[in-house]
Amino acid sequence: METKAIFSKVIGIGSYAPEERLTNIDLEKFVNTSDEWIKKRTGIEERRRVTKDMATSDLALYASRKAIEMAGIDTQEIDAVILGTAFPDYMFPSTACIVQKRLGLKNAFAYDLNAGCTGFIYGLMQADVFIKSGKIKTALVIGAEVITKFLNWNDRTSCVLFGDGAGAVVLRADNAPGIVNIEIKSDGVFADLLYMPAGGSKLPASFDTVNNNLHTVHLKGKEVFKIAVNSLTNLAIELLKKSKMKCNEIDLFIPHQANKRIIDAVADKLGLNQEKVFINIHKYGNTSAASIPIALDESFRANMLKQGDKVLITAFGAGLTWGGAIIKL
Ligand code: UT7
Repeated sequence: METKAIFSKVIGIGSYAPEERLTNIDLEKFVNTSDEWIKKRTGIEERRRVTKDMATSDLALYASRKAIEMAGIDTQEIDAVILGTAFPDYMFPSTACIVQKRLGLKNAFAYDLNAGCTGFIYGLMQADVFIKSGKIKTALVIGAEVITKFLNWNDRTSCVLFGDGAGAVVLRADNAPGIVNIEIKSDGVFADLLYMPAGGSKLPASFDTVNNNLHTVHLKGKEVFKIAVNSLTNLAIELLKKSKMKCNEIDLFIPHQANKRIIDAVADKLGLNQEKVFINIHKYGNTSAASIPIALDESFRANMLKQGDKVLITAFGAGLTWGGAIIKL
């Protein structure tokens, strides 16, 4: 008897960003920076910030509800919740389990993964593999981050870059792709280019760690920038080759929104027209693992995407990690 190949397909997309907008002009008032520098060097105009009482699970919950609503499925059909985040609610338990509880998912297993800004693509890969293996049928994959609570507002080289948000997709088993190809990579040699020094087992919280701002994002931006452009370009070429596709067959390129100059450089190297590149960094800044699913949701809801379109997604982040996928909607 012939066995039918199983693929995974995106059947629901949702996102959520907190209401408060923190503009570059707002930042000028308490950071030694300027609207002009931030716009010119990054493309960011404003970012969103949570209120004190909001956590990563809140953003993840709101994004997930929208994705599940679009998918039109019963929540009890969800077999797995995989949540990419570098800024969970707690060290443990996982934020995914908090979301599972709040959504009332009785039949799912749930866990977090940390691949920095590439967390959503890592999650997508894992869900895709679970589905293709026949182990599960339906997965909720989330990227969610509350970064603004972990920024050193005296460090202008990092604090102006990030914002809070969440995005989610529902993936389901299907007899056609779906996820055409997906790849994830890492190189731990560069672990200290983007990291949070304290709060883990290496350097647990103490008066010193707090006084020295060690519970905040530490970034060597220039080094990360160079590695990002080359790795992302090579990865996109690899994905296209494996999918036997030419760049002009891609309907929309949705890159991680870390810096508009990185996005432009990669698009330029790939020979992609500006109108095929989705950009919303001006509104949200870098939302880490949330950036791809937020962009996917925005482009879909703005009718820039339709059924059957082929989307190229790529991301890059702490680890260093990077990853990408070609998805047929
Ligand atoms: O998503 C995870 C991955 N993260 C990334 O991919 C981030 C990648 N890196 C970047 O996006 C860029 O490297 C940054 C936006 C972080 C920095 O841009 P840059 O063009 O690499 O600037 P730079 O670090 O070379 O700094 C240039 C100048 C410096 O002044 P001097 O030494 O030339 O006098 C900085 O002190 O700009 C200064 N500078 C600022 N000035 C005003 C750095 N940050 C600021 C600021 N406002 N916020």
